Amino acid sequence: IVLPSPPPALYPSFFAVAPEDILPDLKFPEGFFFGVASAAYQVEGAVKDEGKGPSLWDWANRQPGVVVDNTTADVVDLHYYLYKEDVARIAALGVNSHSFSISWGRILPFGAADSPVNQEGIDHYADVIATHLQFNVTPVVTLFHWDPPLALSAYYGGFASPNIVDDYIHYAKTVFTAYNGSVHTWYTFNEPQVFCSELAGFPFNLTLPNGVNSSTAQFQCSYYLLKAHAGAVKAFREMRITGEIAFKSADYVGMPWRANNTEDALAVERHAAFGLGIFADPVYTTGDWPQILKDTLPPDYLPRFTEEESKEILGTADFFAIDAYRTYWNAAPPEGIDACVKDFSNPAWPACNLEVMFDLNGWASGPASDPLSPWLQATPQFLRTSFKEYHRRWPTSKIIFSEFGFTQPFEGTRTPAELFQITEDTERTNYYMTYLGELLLSIHEDGIPVEGAFAWAIMDNAEWNSGLSARFGIQYVNYSSPTLERTYKRSAFALSEFFRQHLQN
Ligand code: NOJ
Repeated sequence: IVLPSPPPALYPSFFAVAPEDILPDLKFPEGFFFGVASAAYQVEGAVKDEGKGPSLWDWANRQPGVVVDNTTADVVDLHYYLYKEDVARIAALGVNSHSFSISWGRILPFGAADSPVNQEGIDHYADVIATHLQFNVTPVVTLFHWDPPLALSAYYGGFASPNIVDDYIHYAKTVFTAYNGSVHTWYTFNEPQVFCSELAGFPFNLTLPNGVNSSTAQFQCSYYLLKAHAGAVKAFREMRITGEIAFKSADYVGMPWRANNTEDALAVERHAAFGLGIFADPVYTTGDWPQILKDTLPPDYLPRFTEEESKEILGTADFFAIDAYRTYWNAAPPEGIDACVKDFSNPAWPACNLEVMFDLNGWASGPASDPLSPWLQATPQFLRTSFKEYHRRWPTSKIIFSEFGFTQPFEGTRTPAELFQITEDTERTNYYMTYLGELLLSIHEDGIPVEGAFAWAIMDNAEWNSGLSARFGIQYVNYSSPTLERTYKRSAFALSEFFRQHLQN
């Protein structure tokens, strides 16, 4: 494919920008969250301890070819036992909030509404939350970060089945009841778009409900997940739980590859609809799927909402949360190229050639090979535009930048000695500094109401299919050491210093 030349970079060089040169005295709003983020599956380990039931991922990571380095998350950071130390370590940096998830299978080992509650799991998170409060680190809690109880996936196909709705709502109510008053900010779901479209493959390979196939599963998942979200938020409000609740969105609004090009502008719209809009439109603006989805996907792919369902879903978020790691260029597929390489085999659905996305090498592209940018993941030059787009499309009075972060190329293949050098993580440091600089400008120059930013991740951890080969942490974890020793990376100190200068309190 011959690509048109890229628009000129707005940042002359990602690495050269020193935010302090462009942001002399700007402050974050009062009460701003300087946060770090994690997720149960990725950091806890202790997968068979204290009554926990297995999650889908505890099964998936044992299947050949699922995790690149064949690592499980059975131990990883052992945060399940080391949380006190971990909270103390982030508090020492001045971090004032931690976004973490509760593992459904620790609360309800078999998942379902009529199965027993595991008191040890309830007590465990009660102490985790209390520890945060003791260290003045605000706990921000996600109910579901991609780890459905295996029993539900095996029994009825997890989120591809309508049964998940009541089971999830029951789980949510159990958690709300247990921690009401000690947690203020809640997320129902982490990145539903990624879960349904990419990770959902696992449950659906395990069991598919009748009438669902591998092409339709992603959309059944989207539908039931939205119903589960809405039901949990309804319960949250009826139970008068103190606090605020939303889900964490993922994906991006892309940049048109060519300015003033109608085809590329359409590619941006298509991506925005299939990526963010599929969850954000129903919840924030219309109570319905984006029109492009309805025009493209027949109802046996994408179930349609009844009027009543629409009413129940619209308005079920108190703020907008976005995990925004990067953005992409979107362009229409070049003539003669079917950009759809996914295997949607049903000929009734002609909707594959959505766009071309110019993100050629995943998380961390090697420096030389890519003509666009040596570090495609890092797109600080688009952060302000992205936030303007989020806010224009799904306006709310409050936005939380719920995850952003960076992994360096080839970290997974380095020796322990080399990895230690990575604690001098200049690139990750620059990633955070440029993003936060842009974020301050976004708040001050563009009036975007961002009230928190959470660095992914609190420490190196199990990166789903990438296992331990992708290290997003602001702390290095030495997996060869019996104590799983943590070491602050340079980026941790840089974040600490940046927030010391720019927080009001
Ligand atoms: C977002 C996800 O929520 C998290 O689980 C993942 O590790 C990071 N992105 C990095 O891929």
